Amino acid sequence: MEFDAATLDQATQSRLLHGAVTPRPIALVTTLGPDGPNAAPFSFFNVACTDPGMLMFSVSDRDDGAKDTVTNIAWCPEFVIHIVSADMSDRMNVCAVEFPRGVDEIRQAGFTAVSAAKVRAPRIKEAPAAFECRLVQMLKLGRRPYHLVIGEVLYYHFADGLANERGHVDVGRVNPIGRLAGNGGYARITDRFEMPRISYPQWLRMKRGEK
Ligand SMILES: Cc1cc2nc3c(=O)[nH]c(=O)nc-3n(C[C@H](O)[C@H](O)[C@H](O)COP(=O)(O)O)c2cc1C
Repeated sequence: MEFDAATLDQATQSRLLHGAVTPRPIALVTTLGPDGPNAAPFSFFNVACTDPGMLMFSVSDRDDGAKDTVTNIAWCPEFVIHIVSADMSDRMNVCAVEFPRGVDEIRQAGFTAVSAAKVRAPRIKEAPAAFECRLVQMLKLGRRPYHLVIGEVLYYHFADGLANERGHVDVGRVNPIGRLAGNGGYARITDRFEMPRISYPQWLRMKRGEK
């Protein structure tokens, strides 16, 4: 099956991309706006840079304009990105309800808001990992616009025992969920495997039939 993007409508391209680019990590993003704090999940999410640490996520517009996350970041260019663990999934889903503007999803979901160390947006205490960020750039992309938000990480939080002083993270204990396609598809990381990278000398030895 092949598709020429020039012939595709937005909805089909959206289905193809959501269906194939899986599993996607989920950023639960807290912001602060003129109407108070806000939280929303975004699965168009990844690491953008490691020196300094930068994260990126992408937010579509609603039919009637910008989502609260984008409005708030334009007002206060600081936010906290939280990793969503399996035990937070129901509460994360509540944060995606399209509440009227000014409703605090953190409270509605039953999460605990605590002060962040370096940014004004609140941090969700229950998250296994949280990254306090300041906005580097917000790029408007496409005809039905998405806002690609890039943030520099100013402060890292990990729940007790999930990371060591050298920065190694115990992903099994973080226990993140990933987003699949469709209305309700998610994955857990219950079937992991290890595959070390192969150096070029190792590759040559393997080709020669050596160990
Ligand atoms: C798991 C999950 C992932 C989502 N990913 C995105 C995304 O990447 N981009 C986006 O614009 N909306 C995404 N959404 C929808 C937003 O979370 C939803 O529109 C939310 O109400 C926006 O909140 P806000 O207006 O408070 O910013 C996702 C929803 C869920 C449940």
